[in-house]
Formats: sequence, C-alpha cells, structure tokens
Amino acid sequence: MTNLLYEDTAARLATLIEQGTFAPGARLPGLRKLSRQFSVSVGTVVSACALLEAQGLLIAQPRSGHYVADRLNEEPARPEVGTPADGPALIQGQERVLALVQAHNDPALLPFGAAVPDASFLPVAALERSAARVRRAQRGRVADYDFPPGAPELRVQIARRMAEAGCQLGPDEIVVTSGCQEALVLSLRTVAQPGDVIAIESPTFYGILQAIESQGMRALEIATDPETGMAPESLARALKQWPITACVLMPNFGNPLGHLTPEPRKAELVSLLQASGVALIEDDVYGELAFDHQRPWAAKAYDTQGEVLYCGSFSKTLGSGLRLGWAALGRYRERFTYLKYASSQATPTLTTLAVADYLERGGYERFLHATQRRYRLQVRRVIDAVGRHFPAGTRVTRPGGGFVVWVELPKGADALGLQERALAAGISIAPGPMFSSHGGYRHCLRLNCALPWSPQTEAALARLGRLVGEPFS
Ligand SMILES: Cc1ncc(COP(=O)(O)O)c(C=O)c1O
Repeated sequence: MTNLLYEDTAARLATLIEQGTFAPGARLPGLRKLSRQFSVSVGTVVSACALLEAQGLLIAQPRSGHYVADRLNEEPARPEVGTPADGPALIQGQERVLALVQAHNDPALLPFGAAVPDASFLPVAALERSAARVRRAQRGRVADYDFPPGAPELRVQIARRMAEAGCQLGPDEIVVTSGCQEALVLSLRTVAQPGDVIAIESPTFYGILQAIESQGMRALEIATDPETGMAPESLARALKQWPITACVLMPNFGNPLGHLTPEPRKAELVSLLQASGVALIEDDVYGELAFDHQRPWAAKAYDTQGEVLYCGSFSKTLGSGLRLGWAALGRYRERFTYLKYASSQATPTLTTLAVADYLERGGYERFLHATQRRYRLQVRRVIDAVGRHFPAGTRVTRPGGGFVVWVELPKGADALGLQERALAAGISIAPGPMFSSHGGYRHCLRLNCALPWSPQTEAALARLGRLVGEPFS
C-alpha cells in the first residue's frame, strides 16, 4: 500500500514538472508543505522525491531542498567511439597544455578548461583546522622530511579507504606521493624503459600523455567506449600485434570521457594483461565521486598477482593544491619507493599529516556524499546548457561520476580555433587534441563542471555555443 502511495505521489509530482508548474531549475516546496498539499506523510514525500531523483527528474541539494533537473525535450546524443591512430607513436603537441593550465590560474577567465574543482566544492575550513592542529602538536615532525613510503597515519587512512574500492591492503603496501601525476610517472618508470610501448585509452587524460612523453616512451591508443571504457577485444588484438610493456587505464569515471568500466570487464582486462605479462597502471582519481554514491571497485581489486600499480589522489576530493596522492604497487613496491625517494625525496609533511588528521576525525564520508550530489547537479547543468546552446549535431557524454563532460562538435568544427576565440571572450576550454597522442579529436572538447553556477556561467556556455558556429576570422 505504502509503495503505491509514494509511487502515486511521485507520478503526480512528475506531471506537475512536465506541465511546467515546476520548471527546470525551480525549487520544489519543502517536504512538509508537499505533504500537506498531497495529503500524504512526510516519509511518503521523501520516498517520492528519492524516486524522482533516481529517474533524473529531481536533484537534491543538501540543506536547500529539491530542484527540478534541467532536462530537455531533445537531449544531445552521446558521442561515438573514437578512431585512434594506427600503431605506437611518440607523443606530439603536449606543450599547448601549459597555456591551458596557466589559463586556469587567471581569475579573469571562466575555468571550463582544467579539471580542477573550485574551492567552494572543497572542505577548506576543516583542512585548515587540521593543519593548525598538526602544526601545534607536531612542530618538530612537520619541519622534518617525511621519507617514503610516507607517514603511517595517512597510509592507515588510505588503506581503510581502499577497502571501499574492493582492495584489502595493509598500510605498508601504500606509498604517499606528490599527487597522482607523480604516481603515474613513477609507475611508468618502475615497469617500463624509454622506447617501450604503453597502451592507453583514446582519448586520454593529457597528464598520462605527458608522463609517457617525459620518459621517452611511445603511446598506443586503443579505442575506448565513452560509456564502458576500453574493450577487452580491442586490447587483446593490440597485445597480439604490438610489443606492449604496460597499459594505463582509468576504469572509474575516466578523464575526459567519464566512462565507467563494468566490474566484469575490469576483471577481464586485468586477467588479459596478467596473462600477457603486461603491467596495468590504474589511475583512479575520480573513483570516489560516483553520483549514485556506490563507490565502484578499482581494477586493482581483481589483481591476483600484484601486477596492478594503483594511483590515487586527494586532488579531486580535497583539493589539488594539497599535491597529495598515493600508489599501491603490488610486487613493484620496493622499486617504486626508491624511485619516489630519488625523484623528490619526500612529500610535504604538513600536508600529509593534516589530511591524515582530517580523515581520522570522520566526516569525510558525509562530505563525499554531499559533493557527489553537487557534482551530479553541475554535470547535469552543463549537459543541459550544451543541449540548449550548441549547434545541432553536438554530442555530449553522460558521466555517472566525476565532474567533466566530453563534447563532440559537429564534424568539421575546430576546437583549437574555438579555444582561441573562447579565450578572447574570457572562457577557457580544453580542446580535443590535448587528449590525443597525435593531435586527434579536433572537433571535440572537454568541459570542467566543478565551477560555481551563476547566470554568467550559463551565458558563457551560450557564448561558446555561438562561437562554435562562427566562421574563422
Ligand atoms: C585522470 C587524472 N589523473 C591524474 C590527475 C593528476 O592528479 P594530481 O593533481 O593528483 O597530480 C588528474 C588531474 O587533472 C586527472 O584528471
């Protein structure tokens, strides 16, 4: 009986939304008011709203209420699987990324470019309190090196979090790093040599391309499904054809596609690589940012032979300025630990201990839940704005986590030219060629959604949409 009542309430609410009584972006009346209006209990309204949330019609904002999602009658289609270059190649054209990241630090620009969360999404005050506590309580230690593998307090906290990703690890199996980027570079150096072939997703995060380039290695792009990630069959074909030494994957809300590799497929990819004696480097920086609050497992959870080098970070959850990440390395731990020491000696002690203190105190889980909801709303807003303002034929991803979307413009559009014109209009974006070893994806771009929403943000996306259609000057 209760089921029917809440479903009925949800259906009545949905009708009001469809009729425009509550337009996209509108805030619904509070739960008590709705319960009076619909003559049902508050509990029934809560269940009805949760159902509409799951259907993508409503978005819950902590301490603020329920909002009608910005849905369109005709949503933009989803991008298709890209066509990577044939065969391994040295990486070209990555220098242009420096201009992108520099644009991020320019307060005059709207930062749709670099995938960096605005400070308003981060627990800045709580982290400051933790840093102050650590500074007071551990003065001598804060002044000293924290040599690899890094402070045990943080490694214990990381090991506990890794259990949520399906990985049962001891603190001794974890090495603290200066961000995920350092973990990626050191992982590559641990398992491969200059000239070696590294299989990657296509398109992929430019930091992975730069890590490969910095070591004089060659990249082999493998076709990657924007929803499910790299297909085991494509990887199997490449493994037969090329002398691959390592493979870098982002199975959980990968950047830039936002794909989520289904669990059985993760297991298949891991066992395929293990059978071929190829190391897997896993980048999982978005794993904790699932919109449905279900933390997907890491590929490392399926690692039976210690062949997966897992790289994580607090950049996307607690802040990139911390420069704090970690790696879990299986049988490569010793070599990696030495390389970490040889390359940067240690990770800043204050940051390490402050984050350990923050995690020890609890509250991170609650913070994550609220953040997941906020990113879900942001991503939805950007997708809807692209649908409203970009030319017909534009396609866009629907990630289930993280905070970036990948936009495929109509064929013939030039995202590099668009980047220049957008910068002149005060908007930074990340054009597709940055995500390719050979300058592919020229008609694509990535948008960062973790920025405060305002009429200016929407206006900037409208401007961007108009710029796509404008001819070159
Ligand atoms: C997929 C991915 N991996 C790694 C990084 C780098 O992370 P960190 O700031 O921890 O070095 C980023 C940052 O944009 C990223 O998106």
